[in-house]
Amino acid sequence: MFDPVLLGAGRDADVFALDEGRVLRRYRNGADVTGEAAIMRYVADRGFPVPRVDRAEGADLVMERIDGPTLRAAMAAGDLDLPAGAEILADLHRRLHDLPARPGSGLRTRVVHLDLHPENVMLGSRGPVVIDWRNARDDQPDLDVGMTALILAEVVVGDMFGLGALADAVLTAFLDRAPGDPVRLLTSAVAMRRGNPTLSAEEKGRLASAATLVRAGYTGLR
Ligand SMILES: Nc1ncnc2c1ncn2[C@@H]1O[C@H](COP(=O)(O)OP(=O)(O)OP(=O)(O)O)[C@@H](O)[C@H]1O
Ligand SMILES: [Mg+2]
Repeated sequence: MFDPVLLGAGRDADVFALDEGRVLRRYRNGADVTGEAAIMRYVADRGFPVPRVDRAEGADLVMERIDGPTLRAAMAAGDLDLPAGAEILADLHRRLHDLPARPGSGLRTRVVHLDLHPENVMLGSRGPVVIDWRNARDDQPDLDVGMTALILAEVVVGDMFGLGALADAVLTAFLDRAPGDPVRLLTSAVAMRRGNPTLSAEEKGRLASAATLVRAGYTGLR
């Protein structure tokens, strides 16, 4: 038996430190990790910053431990200014969508993360690293940037993440820097969030105003 030290408990998973270099992420509902582990390995092999996967079996994913704060924590603490934080998000999208599509995936698709927000980026010693690949799949890059913009807008509308008034500035800075068109597939992003069982009814109630904020912000910049 290992003596688990809980590092983080998200909506779906518990993350335990196994030792100084590795963590165990375990889905509480027993969901299978092999699909997301395959995507993590695919992007890692092509140079995208993601924790190294050591073992993926059933609900358990053993991976490299990232030694640093989340992007959200760094921005909230004032250790990283907001345009720099937004640029990190935009750059991660750009790098992910520049990778070659996986064999057999549809036309115009790339690997997309679909939950690339400041709590799923950790600032490790080797730079920003993207975690939490549960929603990743082959799809259109514009859906991915639309999803990030929507989640950032949800933070503004719902006053989440401990960023207060700074949240609006993060959204604007991201819309200004994001590759592609964050508005083109926004309706699909909203539908995905609406179907997400980990969002509360109250959070879903804020989706429409969040989408309006993204559209207004994007139009205002053009
Ligand atoms: N590879 C890692 N190294 C170090 N800490 C990690 C790692 N992966 C996850 N964590 C910690 O566990 C937390 C939750 O991880 P993750 O986002 O993967 O789980 P989740 O259940 O999907 O969370 P949420 O529902 O909040 O998105 C992270 O915020 C981080 O603190
Ligand atoms: Mg997460």
